[in-house]
Amino acid sequence: MTVTPTREDKFSFGLWTVGYDGADPFGGPTRAPLDVVHAVEKLAEHGAYGLTFHDDDLFAFGSTDLERQKQIDRLTAALADTGLIVPMITTNLFSAPVFKDGGFTSNDRAVRRFALRKVLRNIDLAAELGAKTFVMWGGREGAEYDAAKDIRQALERYREAINLLGEYVTDKGYDIRFAIEPKPNEPRGDILLPTVGHALAFITTLERPELVGVNPEVGHEQMAGLNFASGIAQALYQGKLFHIDLNGQRGIKYDQDLVFGHGDLHNAFALVDLLEHGGVDGGQTYQGPRHFDYKPSRTEDESGVWDSAAANMRTYLLLKERTAAFRADPEVKEALEAAKVLELSQPTLADGEGYAELLADASAYEGFDTDRYFNGKGFGFVRLQQLATEHLLGAR
Ligand code: GCO
Ligand code: MN
Ligand code: MN
Repeated sequence: MTVTPTREDKFSFGLWTVGYDGADPFGGPTRAPLDVVHAVEKLAEHGAYGLTFHDDDLFAFGSTDLERQKQIDRLTAALADTGLIVPMITTNLFSAPVFKDGGFTSNDRAVRRFALRKVLRNIDLAAELGAKTFVMWGGREGAEYDAAKDIRQALERYREAINLLGEYVTDKGYDIRFAIEPKPNEPRGDILLPTVGHALAFITTLERPELVGVNPEVGHEQMAGLNFASGIAQALYQGKLFHIDLNGQRGIKYDQDLVFGHGDLHNAFALVDLLEHGGVDGGQTYQGPRHFDYKPSRTEDESGVWDSAAANMRTYLLLKERTAAFRADPEVKEALEAAKVLELSQPTLADGEGYAELLADASAYEGFDTDRYFNGKGFGFVRLQQLATEHLLGAR
């Protein structure tokens, strides 16, 4: 068993994650700022393959062209030295006071036009650095007060913005796709496109839906009490899992951004199983970056930052190994069979059968013995879950 990360594992980190200085709404920074060159070197040393960032992580909001270029050059040199790549870029439309009511959906039209320009400029940078995914997390796209925001018009402006960006990358011939990152709340009281499901539905309204997918984050779905692995399964099913933010969250509360696995470990097991093996029937797997969007706790010093970065990757690889053992276990195969899990991939109607044939099939209804089927005979799902638990615990 190997739990040493390599480039082939495609682990990536946001510059804002390892670079988090520990400031929260109740207290200032507990760590010194992290320089991008140092971050790239450390990530490469720890076996990551990619660095991602918001424009403002690399060069402060309001930087001059010269300052901006200097930082881009320093990053590019560090990437060349280490072989790290930038698989994804994103734009900060939430920190600067001007975005207090959002970027694409601010009530203020001038702010919306400024936000679009900021994003277009950043898309050019994404293309320059070879990033294939452009994430859109609309943290400030929302409201605290129902009377303050016309939600239908806000969605219309969101749509207008994404349609424009889609037209831009198409005209420029950029090989870039967009990934919307849902989140239910925080920093806004309520955020637009709060869950994977909302985002998937919204994407169907776009002019170029094929260019747009989702970037779900573990903690964000769990903040809404949802099953993350199940949401990911639907995103894969619809061909929309363009990117993923891995981290840990313990229940319905503020966005914790813990290390991957330091929250709902059972669901993390199911998630890795799905991403790596396509779940029970070996369906579509995920080929993109395994991106960690976590925050090293403010209790940690710099060595704690790198320990926690390594912990994300190590936990992922341990779960990968544990889920492979689960899939290979003959007793699991037998339990899956007994629980009829595989039978679900069999179509309900036979080849060529329609409702007329179904209505004519007396064995399906008139002769169907519901008592024999459902009184007394269980599915054995608990046994299956216990087998998963024992593999997760390393007991098998
Ligand atoms: C959050 C979000 C962000 C985004 C990032 C990239 O809750 O703060 O997860 O970290 O992922 O802005 O879009
Ligand atoms: Mn988060
Ligand atoms: Mn995120």
